Amino acid sequence: MKFANVFAAALMASAASLALAGGAMAQAKEEVQVLHWWTSGGEAKALATLKDKMQAEGVTWTDVPVAGGGGEGAMTVLRSRVTAGDPPTASQMLGFDIQDWAEQGVLANLNDIAAKGNWDATIPQAIQKFSKYQDQWVAAPVNIHSTNWIWVNKAMFDELGLSEPKDWDELVAALDKIKASGKTALAHGGQPWQDATIFDSVVMTTGGPEFYQKALIDLDPEALGSDTMKTVFERMAKLRTYVDDNFSGRDWNLASAMVINGEAGMQIMGDWAKGEFLNAGKEPGKDFLCYRFPGTQGTVTFNTDQFAMFKVGDNAQDAQTKLAAAIEEPAFQVAFNKIKGSAPTRTDVDTSSLDACGQKAVADVKEAAEKGTLLGSLAHGHAARAAVKNAMYDVVTAAFNGEYTPDQATTELVTAVAGAQ
Ligand code: GAL
Repeated sequence: MKFANVFAAALMASAASLALAGGAMAQAKEEVQVLHWWTSGGEAKALATLKDKMQAEGVTWTDVPVAGGGGEGAMTVLRSRVTAGDPPTASQMLGFDIQDWAEQGVLANLNDIAAKGNWDATIPQAIQKFSKYQDQWVAAPVNIHSTNWIWVNKAMFDELGLSEPKDWDELVAALDKIKASGKTALAHGGQPWQDATIFDSVVMTTGGPEFYQKALIDLDPEALGSDTMKTVFERMAKLRTYVDDNFSGRDWNLASAMVINGEAGMQIMGDWAKGEFLNAGKEPGKDFLCYRFPGTQGTVTFNTDQFAMFKVGDNAQDAQTKLAAAIEEPAFQVAFNKIKGSAPTRTDVDTSSLDACGQKAVADVKEAAEKGTLLGSLAHGHAARAAVKNAMYDVVTAAFNGEYTPDQATTELVTAVAGAQ
């Protein structure tokens, strides 16, 4: 090859590499800052599917993790950032909190992305209620979690000859048998949001979906102060007798680990717990069992994680658009939710690759949606606004720690809810 040709080739090559570099440099400017509380093993593994997807699309991911299951800490950090005029591109958020932020006028309009992604036709109305504000999409829902599950150590159940408890009495009998064997019957973390997660299920199994709706969603004072609610608090007190001495303050994923390693028989927790079992290399049906909280089969107390998108400058909008679009991509929906333990939020995705517990989650959500028993989790911000939710947290946790008798707790609940509205 003549010198001139060689030089030209070299020039072309360097021009091409400069263009690429320039392109990469331009692409590298695309960045998303994402605030979330997914810091446990399973949660982080699931979130990594989104981080990887963004980075593959040339978007730099700046992680803003705030530990603390249930998200109380994350929401505190979010409030300080927005107040300082420095909102993240997106923040993990639940239910009514999205509506609260939308009312502040600080969330972006995602309608164009939603139209391109056919969100209106594929995301259940029960979820759209939280994702939209005044007909604008302001958040991208990523999953459908639910709280009315128990997670069981299969070897222990087999050893004790236990089968799936189908109602409250059978649950108590199973817990008694595990306790009598010397193991911790109920793995639990004594934190308000975890106590409230149990409360979701005890309300549902005690009063059924109509009572759950009236008491926790309609906030009907008669239901909140009823004999049925007193029975709920009596049952919460009964469950308190099955936890170990070190339960107070324990993080939820460490309680999951107690069931995973055979120290405890079961945990009452949302299906993000499954993410911990999978992350520990455990298999559903072989190492652990997923049962609906006894007496709640046919109902689902759901909570959907969403990424609320904050208004950002023009130079950050492309990256934010890519993030929102990625969250609703069918392939991502399956990849993420397989690891997270939740059902996909889109109803048009192929869920055949989900494991048995994932398939059950999808089927239960579909059945509950058809029966009108797909009800928002109080514990995770889908039944009442934050002020009411936190007021209930206080009463439920105080009662769980023996500061109120069931009678006093019932009266306190009515007062606390009225005071928070
Ligand atoms: C819930 C959230 C789940 C999981 C859980 C424990 O509020 O929806 O995705 O993060 O907290 O941290």
